[in-house]
Amino acid sequence: MSVADTIARRKSSRAFLPDPVDQALLEAVVRKALQSASNSNIQPWHVYLVTGDRLERLKAATAERSTVPPAFDDRPYPVYPEPLEEPYEGRRFHCGERQYAAMGIAREDQDSRLRYVYNNHQCFGAPAAMFLYIDQHAGPSQWADLGIYLQSVMLLLTEAGIDSCAQISWNVFNKTVRKLLEVEDNLTLYCGLSIGYADPDAPVNAVVADRAPEAETLTIYRD
Ligand SMILES: Cc1cc2nc3c(=O)[nH]c(=O)nc-3n(C[C@H](O)[C@H](O)[C@H](O)COP(=O)(O)O)c2cc1C
Repeated sequence: MSVADTIARRKSSRAFLPDPVDQALLEAVVRKALQSASNSNIQPWHVYLVTGDRLERLKAATAERSTVPPAFDDRPYPVYPEPLEEPYEGRRFHCGERQYAAMGIAREDQDSRLRYVYNNHQCFGAPAAMFLYIDQHAGPSQWADLGIYLQSVMLLLTEAGIDSCAQISWNVFNKTVRKLLEVEDNLTLYCGLSIGYADPDAPVNAVVADRAPEAETLTIYRD
């Protein structure tokens, strides 16, 4: 698969089959991604690959905390600016609405929406997960480097025929994740990544996220 094909084929899956992913393959992916570029080669990523018993314990611990109404941890960093201005707020809203529509969850059904969010913390059924941490003193450039590492992992997974979904949602349970993964206090959770084989019959996996009109995001000068 060419890089272009891999980029085109990667998409977020939000319902996985329970089938395990070959451990050696997973470890090879997170190792190969360490070759990602970073400013001044700082390599600010702290990567945790989790499968098996430990992941089951993490899912169980978060399931226990998945109450209605929610009892979330303070977020370790603001995910969006407050307020999130247009056009970004419109895109964020549209992204969520398409998923809820695919699941047949109405806008006013807040309980079902919350339970859908909690699927994130069961890794949408995936048998493997990666968690990305960054030093608490890191700045915007290092955070961007983490995104580069994340993209490398997602593309390598796609190339290997494995599906994934990046998940900032884990940060509402960041204390539980820290405890189960035995992460030092000086590190901040950036996001999780569910890894596995997408359920082809799950309606939510039929959602294909569109992209903004190019004129909104791309400027090309030819003069
Ligand atoms: C850093 C990051 C965090 C994300 N967090 C979540 C999340 O918590 N839950 C979720 O369902 N999708 C999450 N996504 C997936 C995005 O919604 C998805 O990438 C976007 O809608 C584009 O769709 P695509 O990945 O299928 O191309 C995240 C993506 C990124 C890159």
